[in-house]
Amino acid sequence: MPLRYDLVPMDRSHLEGVLAIERTCFHPPWSEQVFVDALCNDAVSLIAAQAGDGRVLGYAALSVVLDEGSLDKIAVDPACRRQGVGEELLKVFLRFGRAHLAFLTLEVRAGNAAAIGLYEKLGFRQAGRRKNYYPQEHEDALLMTAQFPRIGVD
Ligand SMILES: CC(C)(COP(=O)(O)OP(=O)(O)OC[C@H]1O[C@@H](n2cnc3c(N)ncnc32)[C@H](O)[C@@H]1OP(=O)(O)O)[C@@H](O)C(=O)NCCC(=O)NCCS
Repeated sequence: MPLRYDLVPMDRSHLEGVLAIERTCFHPPWSEQVFVDALCNDAVSLIAAQAGDGRVLGYAALSVVLDEGSLDKIAVDPACRRQGVGEELLKVFLRFGRAHLAFLTLEVRAGNAAAIGLYEKLGFRQAGRRKNYYPQEHEDALLMTAQFPRIGVD
């Protein structure tokens, strides 16, 4: 059975579900306060994939400065992966990017094959490498960007 969910703006009602996923995915995770601050920040967009019963299946965060976007977060409940949720979340920001931004950038652990696969599938390309960016894991970060053609700009 395909997963059924809606993509909705994240609000405080999603925080419990978001934090549960966050803590399984990231070390260290964003704290509740970081999410609350992001929800109050006009430069940050947060979206959630929400099942019919209200359960959070995944979420993503984009921050924007002028015409540059940064994907600050994307995560999907481990029980719901490989079913297109991450792709649908990211496509929301890519649609926004094509309309309003020059490019979208992100950092990812060099060994995070799932995330890199997702980003490459949706058009991101490696733009740089930060050596030993995650010292505890002795891992580099890849800097990846998706560029958006600027139609009608000289
Ligand atoms: C990365 C993540 C968000 C992907 O979410 P997802 O819902 O499972 O991804 P999707 O089902 O939408 O997959 C879309 C594409 O991503 C790639 N992909 C996803 N998981 C993959 C995996 N385990 N290995 C290789 N490629 C993978 C594939 O290209 C896939 O397309 P396909 O299904 O046609 O092959 C999820 O693995 C996750 O939450 N990881 C932990 C948090 C994290 O690392 N976030 C990124 C931090 S930079």
